[in-house]
Amino acid sequence: MLDRLEPQSPDALLALIKLHAADEREDKIDLGVGVYRTDDGATPVFKSIKAAEEALIGEQQSKSYLGPEGDLGFVHSLMPYIFGKDATMGGRIEGMQTPGGTGAVRLAAAVAKHAGATRIHMGTPSWPNHAQIFRDLDLEVAAFDHANADGTANLEAVLEAIRGAGENEAVLLHGCCHNPTGIDYTPAQWVEIAEALAESPALPILDVAYHGLGHGLEQDAYGVRRVLNAVDEALIAYSCDKNFGMYRDRVGALYVMAKNSSGLDPILSNLNALARASWSMPPDHGGAAVRLVLRDDTRRQQWLDELESMRNRLRWVRERLAAADNQVSGLDLAPLAEQNGMFAMLKLDKDQIARLREEHAVYMAGSGRINVAGLTKGNIDKFIAALADVAG
Ligand SMILES: Cc1ncc(COP(=O)(O)O)c(C=O)c1O
Repeated sequence: MLDRLEPQSPDALLALIKLHAADEREDKIDLGVGVYRTDDGATPVFKSIKAAEEALIGEQQSKSYLGPEGDLGFVHSLMPYIFGKDATMGGRIEGMQTPGGTGAVRLAAAVAKHAGATRIHMGTPSWPNHAQIFRDLDLEVAAFDHANADGTANLEAVLEAIRGAGENEAVLLHGCCHNPTGIDYTPAQWVEIAEALAESPALPILDVAYHGLGHGLEQDAYGVRRVLNAVDEALIAYSCDKNFGMYRDRVGALYVMAKNSSGLDPILSNLNALARASWSMPPDHGGAAVRLVLRDDTRRQQWLDELESMRNRLRWVRERLAAADNQVSGLDLAPLAEQNGMFAMLKLDKDQIARLREEHAVYMAGSGRINVAGLTKGNIDKFIAALADVAG
């Protein structure tokens, strides 16, 4: 039976990692993989997480099963940061732990499908796994353009998609720090999006994978909160893998906002059943460590400081690239300063991307996406000179 399977093309970024690892040039630059890096090019465990992990080893008395919803202390500790002071919207929001943001997106799409969804509208380009997950669940993907050529968000396209979306349809939006473009909706645009969603029968699915890496935890939650204040129901997929540096520990949560508090239980029972049938229970360690960060004043402050320094560094790189706009013809780097998070799309063609790799040892995705965090004080001048060379 297994002979019938068609070979699948390998993940392009994983292939890039291999190429980068095999390159012996000492000044090589990796802008491919989507992990944060310090100015030394490292991706260290957060100090706040290290401290929480030490506490966890001392405290944990059992590794017995928890249940499909995972560590609810973790799930609830995050809620004020995402949803604000009234973190449950009057008892209408509850969540469960998932294996990373990927698990949360998967569970969101699966429960939408269970409820009758047949189609998901989403802006493109997007995180490539969005379309893969939706198609794997036999959901039709209806794409609209996320960005304008000038580096701003295409508001008309998203409004048209929302207004055209029917009853058995969902609309996926990135909460902040859009991957791969870095182009977020402005607060004024979120107001219009929220109003359009309030009029639409479609279910909003909000994906928040980089909370706190844009302008701050409060500012980055503006769009999510605005939408939740306007609509009856929504799903919110959340990842702690970037903002707590937990990548391989797979830390995420899926929240649901129901029309009213009595509507939550049936939805949660479906989420539990779907989780049980896919991963049964989420891995515990990372969620427990995040809970121990958020529930201790010292560790929480340490995390907030660490997040702020990541954010400041990303801002520094963006401003440095934007300031080099006049050194590099035709790439239009200036808008990068207004964009957010770890990623940006450079207007490079396939040949230029290949030349950057071959002649300058600069590795980036074939789409032109760069991980802004791969640039440091030590390599950014070399990168700008390489761009100027290939952009000619
Ligand atoms: C937009 C978006 N959503 C979700 C995820 C999933 O994150 P995780 O690593 O927690 O599964 C990512 C990760 O790159 C992402 O960019």
